[in-house]
Amino acid sequence: MQNPAKDNSQRQADSTLNRRSFLKDSALKSSALAAAAATPYFVPSSAFGANAPSNRVTMACIGVGNQGFPVMQRFLGYDDCQVLAVCDVNKGSNGYKEEKHYYGREPAKQEVEKHYGKQRESGTYKGCDAYNDFREILERKDIDTVVIVTPDHWHSEMTIRAAEAGKDIYCEKPLGLTITEQQAMIEAVRKNNRVCQTGSHERSNPNVMKMIELVQSGAIGDVKRVICNIGRHNKVGPGPGWKEMPVPEGFDYDMWLGPAPHAPFHEDRCLYRFRFNSDYAGGQVTNFGAHSLDMAQWGLGMDKSGPVKVKHVFAEYLPEGSLYNAPTFAHFEAEYANGVQLVCRTAEPSVRCQFEGTDGIVRIENQGRNFATIPYSIKEKRYGSDVPEVYKSNDDHQRNFIDCVKSRDEPAAPIEVGHRSATVCHLGNIAIRLKKELNWNPESEQFVGNDAATALMSRPARKTWQA
Ligand SMILES: NC(=O)c1ccc[n+]([C@@H]2O[C@H](COP(=O)([O-])OP(=O)(O)OC[C@H]3O[C@@H](n4cnc5c(N)ncnc54)[C@H](O)[C@@H]3O)[C@@H](O)[C@H]2O)c1
Repeated sequence: MQNPAKDNSQRQADSTLNRRSFLKDSALKSSALAAAAATPYFVPSSAFGANAPSNRVTMACIGVGNQGFPVMQRFLGYDDCQVLAVCDVNKGSNGYKEEKHYYGREPAKQEVEKHYGKQRESGTYKGCDAYNDFREILERKDIDTVVIVTPDHWHSEMTIRAAEAGKDIYCEKPLGLTITEQQAMIEAVRKNNRVCQTGSHERSNPNVMKMIELVQSGAIGDVKRVICNIGRHNKVGPGPGWKEMPVPEGFDYDMWLGPAPHAPFHEDRCLYRFRFNSDYAGGQVTNFGAHSLDMAQWGLGMDKSGPVKVKHVFAEYLPEGSLYNAPTFAHFEAEYANGVQLVCRTAEPSVRCQFEGTDGIVRIENQGRNFATIPYSIKEKRYGSDVPEVYKSNDDHQRNFIDCVKSRDEPAAPIEVGHRSATVCHLGNIAIRLKKELNWNPESEQFVGNDAATALMSRPARKTWQA
């Protein structure tokens, strides 16, 4: 744990005194580490007061772009959390989702130091390190948690290494690029007894919780169908014949690619826009789908399972040879073992998820800001003690992570939940890619009788990165 009032030099000097170093040097090393893996690292707040230095969760933010920068700002807002380091392969630039945004490791470092500086009499603070290579962060014993907000093709590599380094992890959705790498992420997190929150923040949205409560309480009768809407592509990218561009200064393109195949640089490939190329992400099916299909899975009580059938319905693409090869329009359907139908399609994204039952409909609208029911009277229903326990988090997904790091409880969106929701997205993408109806066994997590689909459950890693 670190004291935010200390500068970097002081912190380095004190580092041998931190709890982890102490455990490492102690004769009790092996038994203490085993115990530490199972119990909180944290001295109870009653001993020093809620925000005592020993009670602060130390953190490094890896990937500080379109989503990572605001997520980092949220963590900065908690008095019991201390951001010690940021990491990004981009030193600092525009070119993110909005042209006005200037993100990367230097702007992130400045933001952290400005924030903590305001809390000191001197008004200045120099205690946030900026890294290009996340592995240097994982070597630091004084960092308890990492926040991974890089493109999807990096999530598994970083999560597994972080778990092995003993860090607790907040990893953005969709959990991974493929089903098999998500399974490996779970294995690493569980083997190392880490707390891992997936960035499926609808699990901390009170409107969504209310919708799930109504569905699981039987307020709409027997659920027959769930409709999940996903947004359209919001960037076009270069068409066939596009030309390689020089890599901008301050951008480590090789480290951006990491485990992805080598590819010529183009400015539309990387920042924010990676989500439209299947080497790095699954298009809007995994981008939006990781939220809307997560709600479907939750409401249906399928957090440990999934559909048994998935079927391609329709997909549209940019012309062959375009930089973006993920479908611009996508529509797939699935079926659960109990007969519930699932529809996932490119449509009005503000209606993220709609449950249709024998007695009514409930849906989340306005991008999660409110929920609606048909008939209206369902909205007012209260179910008392019969209500299933859906309120694991309050209105703050990042806060829930910090609380769980301290308590060692399961967060609102544990890694298995993130895995199962993202798996439905991947199944949809695989069915769309093969233009097929596929049978899926959610217990063994295998396709039934389709080798081509099984092959798409994983990807070959880039050889240079493996070496
Ligand atoms: N929960 C949500 O609602 C939500 C919203 C947006 C994005 N996301 C997720 O966040 C992730 C990032 O998306 P984004 O829109 O912020 O992308 P982005 O391109 O804007 O930001 C990603 C950042 O990661 C950096 N990066 C890439 N490789 C790196 C590496 N090896 N080491 C360190 N930094 C590296 C990039 O330079 C970039 O600054 C995606 O997985 C996306 O699905 C979640």
